[in-house]
Amino acid sequence: MPDALELLKTRRSVKPIELNGPAPSEAEIETLLAIASRVPDHGKLTPWRFIVFAGEARNAAGDAIFEVFRADHPDATADQLDFERKRLARAPLVIAVVSRAAPHVKIPEWEQQLSAGAAAMNLVTAVYALGYAASWITEWYAYDRRVLDKLGLAENERIAGFVHIGRPARPPEDRERPRLADIVTRFQG
Ligand SMILES: Cc1cc2nc3c(=O)[nH]c(=O)nc-3n(C[C@H](O)[C@H](O)[C@H](O)COP(=O)(O)O)c2cc1C
Repeated sequence: MPDALELLKTRRSVKPIELNGPAPSEAEIETLLAIASRVPDHGKLTPWRFIVFAGEARNAAGDAIFEVFRADHPDATADQLDFERKRLARAPLVIAVVSRAAPHVKIPEWEQQLSAGAAAMNLVTAVYALGYAASWITEWYAYDRRVLDKLGLAENERIAGFVHIGRPARPPEDRERPRLADIVTRFQG
């Protein structure tokens, strides 16, 4: 397991198509989910949940995406349709982080949504700590109500991310990071 600071300083997303198998084991998936659900959560509302897409079930979810895409794009080519059908099968494992934020007497929805973001980031970090790599993406189908219905999301539920998980085909190159001088100020009173 890499040193925690080194991991946080060097972690970098790997594109879904560059994530290979074998997928994490059932025990590793359990570890990932336990860590993802250990995040700050104002009011202890658990305003998120997870959907695991593994093995053949990734293709069943892909069928839902494909059907909606085909209905909207009657002129789509066979290649385009095939790409949509395989959306959730590019990586060996995908875990969706679902926000369940809802109006609450005390806790703003914004804070509930932030907690879902924390769950997604914890999940990503845990993936790397186990020696895998990840890509946190949403893509169009995360925002399509027809797809969300087919994936079993309730009316108030939203996708915080589809976290794609696998073994990196090659080490990713880093990208430019924001300069701290541009984003940090010291409050002077
Ligand atoms: C909520 C959220 C949704 C995202 N959706 C997408 C997406 O649909 N497609 C995409 O290419 N990148 C998406 N990204 C960005 C990827 O995660 C991107 O590869 C990442 O910002 C790279 O950061 P890193 O180099 O620190 O890993 C999304 C990021 C977040 C936080």
